[in-house]
Amino acid sequence: MKKITINTLMTWKQEGRKFATATAYDASFAQLFEQQEMPLLLVGDSLGMVLQGKSDTLSVSIEEIAYHTRSVRSGSPSCLLMADMPFMSFSTPEQACENAAVLMKAGANMVKVEGGRWLAETITTLTQRAVPVCAHLGLTPQSVNIFGGFKVQGRSEEQAEQMLQDALALEAAGAQIILLECVPKALAARITDAVRVPVIGIGAGNATDGQILVMHDMFGISANYIPRFSKNYLAETGDLRQAVTRYIEEVATGEFPGPEQTFN
Ligand code: KIV
Repeated sequence: MKKITINTLMTWKQEGRKFATATAYDASFAQLFEQQEMPLLLVGDSLGMVLQGKSDTLSVSIEEIAYHTRSVRSGSPSCLLMADMPFMSFSTPEQACENAAVLMKAGANMVKVEGGRWLAETITTLTQRAVPVCAHLGLTPQSVNIFGGFKVQGRSEEQAEQMLQDALALEAAGAQIILLECVPKALAARITDAVRVPVIGIGAGNATDGQILVMHDMFGISANYIPRFSKNYLAETGDLRQAVTRYIEEVATGEFPGPEQTFN
């Protein structure tokens, strides 16, 4: 695979070319994703749930994300690699710089932070210091205790307007990717049109520039639970590589996510 950079994704957005991405946590799967030309991988703090069996992501540490980032980078030298900043690792711009440095030195090309407008100063501080940032809006799992569960966000007009303004403010602060999780399709479409940077969705409908899935959901690994917005591509194809290829193709054509994986 050709080396992927943020410029690649910007060009794809301008060309209207939709792209698939996934979470990864180890070198073997990262290599498999690279072989199937998955352009962007995320070492998500979802690892607390899918690798460690916790009920949320709050206990994940910066050292754990750095460990998995090193592994994923070994397996996929060419992807744009994004690493999650865990809960309470970016409460101040200074703390964010210190922790982002650990992830960038582990091989990340970019860090992801969860939250709205309050992060503007942190994002500017990070980008000025050469750390590209993805801003994660909507259902931000680190806020599960504020939301009272893993619930769709942005359903009221007021919440939707606030999320749109958050996206614009964080783009203006320097965010180079916006990630939207579990928001109604129409709102995701509005935000995707309003910002110049690529928007990646999960549970956000098919109007975003890219899609992301937690790899365990894509392969149906979690025995008793697949989120409504996900799809078990391994069950459909019976082969890991074909599952990844099918996912990439269905995102490119806009077939995934379909109405059954979309919130309105
Ligand atoms: O941690 C993670 O895997 C994520 C994705 C769900 C986007 O944030």
